[in-house]
Amino acid sequence: MKVERLPLSKLTTLGVGGPAEVWTVETPEDLARATEAPYRVLGNGSNLLVADAGVPERVIALGGVFKEWDFAGWVGAGALVSTLLLKSARLGLSGLEGLHGVPAQVGGAVKMNAGTRFGEMAGALELVEIFHDGALHVYRPEELGFSYRHSALPPGSVVTRVRLRLLEAGEEAVRAKIALVDAARKGQPKKKSAGCAFKNPAGDSAGRLIDRAGLKGLAVGRAMISHEHGNFIVNLGGATAREVYALLRRVQRVLPLEVEWEIWG
Ligand code: FAD
Ligand code: EPU
Repeated sequence: MKVERLPLSKLTTLGVGGPAEVWTVETPEDLARATEAPYRVLGNGSNLLVADAGVPERVIALGGVFKEWDFAGWVGAGALVSTLLLKSARLGLSGLEGLHGVPAQVGGAVKMNAGTRFGEMAGALELVEIFHDGALHVYRPEELGFSYRHSALPPGSVVTRVRLRLLEAGEEAVRAKIALVDAARKGQPKKKSAGCAFKNPAGDSAGRLIDRAGLKGLAVGRAMISHEHGNFIVNLGGATAREVYALLRRVQRVLPLEVEWEIWG
């Protein structure tokens, strides 16, 4: 197990956030030790806005056995969804295509029930192993309260591994579905972001509403609402969490939208 003090701006896709003590756990025994004091769990850092002052809690990152995976058995929660999708496409296994383009570890995708209108993480799960209250527990997905970008995991949960439900569909069919998802993502910006900042209200798109309200291009310091897609706040380089947060509030003063990101600190 490695324990280091690191700036979370380096471990998050938005590229903002101050320091924390990062505990990279390699075994369930490490995890038991790391969770003896207050902690947070870091995945790929793709849905996080971390305060400039950082966070006082331990930040648990998954390494070692938590990154190992096997489609016929268990898949570690630290594995990258993009790696799994690449491999499943080659094998003609269907189930993860809806997550094409979603930067996430398996654990983060489970927690957020990440996905697109073409499919969500919950739909690809058979079993989920979770560490909480000092022990490992196995759940079926219907026990975990999944809905749009939401799960109801027990408090203090660390997802450790999952069994995926992938179906033989053939490489061509899997690649055709990935192409559909890819086309739907074409308008999204390439600059540093944490994906969509706000949840979509039922039956509408937050991005469309922000666009229609004329807020694209609105900036606070180095944080800006993308010209390409209204629901992406991009870091133009050197943005602070305070600036990003101020931009979220500016949007919420005009539109009643719920923030999708998790805010740390
Ligand atoms: P993190 O951001 O590190 O963490 C998110 C939450 O999950 C936190 O609460 C964290 O504590 C928790 N968590 C992480 N790992 C674990 C674990 N092992 N056990 C328990 N809890 C854990 N999302 C979509 O749904 N659809 C999209 O189309 C999409 N597009 C995106 C495009 C871009 C360019 C970017 C940057 C982001 C996008 N996102 C999208 C957002 C993001 O990829 C998802 O929310 C993803 O699920 C976050 O996973 P992560 O591993 O990065 O988790
Ligand atoms: N639109 C605009 N202006 C904009 C953005 C969008 O008019 O600035 C319009 C589009 O033209 C389209 C409609 O709004 O008619 C919907 O847009 P889009 O297809 O981009 O989908 P979205 O609802 O904005 C959702 C997810 C994305 C996911 C895409 C692709 C949410 C909050 N967003 O975006 O997820 O990648 O669909 O399926 O659910 C994320 O959650 O982080 C994320 C990026």
